[in-house]
Amino acid sequence: MTDQTPAPSAPAYGGPRRILSGIQASGALHLGNYLGALKRFTQLQDQGAPCFLFVADLHAITVWQDPALLTAQTREIAAAYLASGLDPAKSVIFPQSAVRAHSELAWIFNCVARLGWLDRMTQFKEKSGKHKERSSVGLYTYPVLQAADILLYKATEVPTGEDQKQHLELTRDIAAKFNNDFGVPGFFPLPEPLTQGPAPRVMSLRDGAAKMSKSDPSDQSRINLTDDADAIVAKIRKARTDPEVLPETLEGLENRAEAKNLVTIYAALADISREQVLAQFAGQGFGQFKPALAELAVSALEPVSAEMRRLMADPAEVDRVLKDGAERAAAIADPVVDEVKQIVGFWRA
Ligand code: TRP
Repeated sequence: MTDQTPAPSAPAYGGPRRILSGIQASGALHLGNYLGALKRFTQLQDQGAPCFLFVADLHAITVWQDPALLTAQTREIAAAYLASGLDPAKSVIFPQSAVRAHSELAWIFNCVARLGWLDRMTQFKEKSGKHKERSSVGLYTYPVLQAADILLYKATEVPTGEDQKQHLELTRDIAAKFNNDFGVPGFFPLPEPLTQGPAPRVMSLRDGAAKMSKSDPSDQSRINLTDDADAIVAKIRKARTDPEVLPETLEGLENRAEAKNLVTIYAALADISREQVLAQFAGQGFGQFKPALAELAVSALEPVSAEMRRLMADPAEVDRVLKDGAERAAAIADPVVDEVKQIVGFWRA
């Protein structure tokens, strides 16, 4: 017996545990990104697992991005990684486009993935809406690029939201088909999604049925990571709720989507369970709960937003982290893509 108990979802693959995730470089980051991604990445890093975290700028351009804003957003996401506690000495933080191997492997995977597989992707259907024929081809093959991101580092675990599970399944299908078609069993591991976490789904403050999103036209629907204390307090005060008091049990939150969301946010920010939140606030109305939540949110988010503002005021530090991260990422990714090219049969001198 060793004290190294395997992670609950540790895959059968014999290689090392390796965690990878990305955040798309489009639009401002919000509380949902913080609780669902950034805070969890920091916890995983602090458990000692090697983490590869990138800014998905190649994915961002599947829909139009203003070039100057894209650069700024890339730096902002890098600043958010750092401000949330990710340590560039332990984790590799980089812009996806700075490691050429992502694009190269994505092309090869475009020739492995089947049209029928991509036709089933629900995120494409949602994002392309009624005008599929006017979407970029990149938006359609978006999940293939995501598979390349993951498999390039032979990642074993991918912390993401529930909405990315289908893309993870596709990644596994691509890995399995590549391994099988080219007769290289086990070359790519079959990565596992890591969707458990304190707050897998943070919902809009205006509508408990919609995910908190940067694309929601109402800024009141989300808490941005760059919001100051006054804005955070005002948004929580105005958040939609119901006239009931908080119940004693989780069942009492069923069919009360807005109430449930605020309890979920409180639990995630305080690192306690929702049951513990209810034990503390049962019988109290939102007139009492909202100020407590606002105070908690301000104390948790203020240091993060202050550090983000500091980092964004002088991009030199962020740029150094990104450049160094890109070099360390390429040192791992380049040999993998070279091996893939050899497996596929591409000529080399
Ligand atoms: N598609 C992911 C999202 O929207 C972002 C992403 C791109 C990603 N490549 C990835 C996440 C690789 C995990 C692993 O959330």
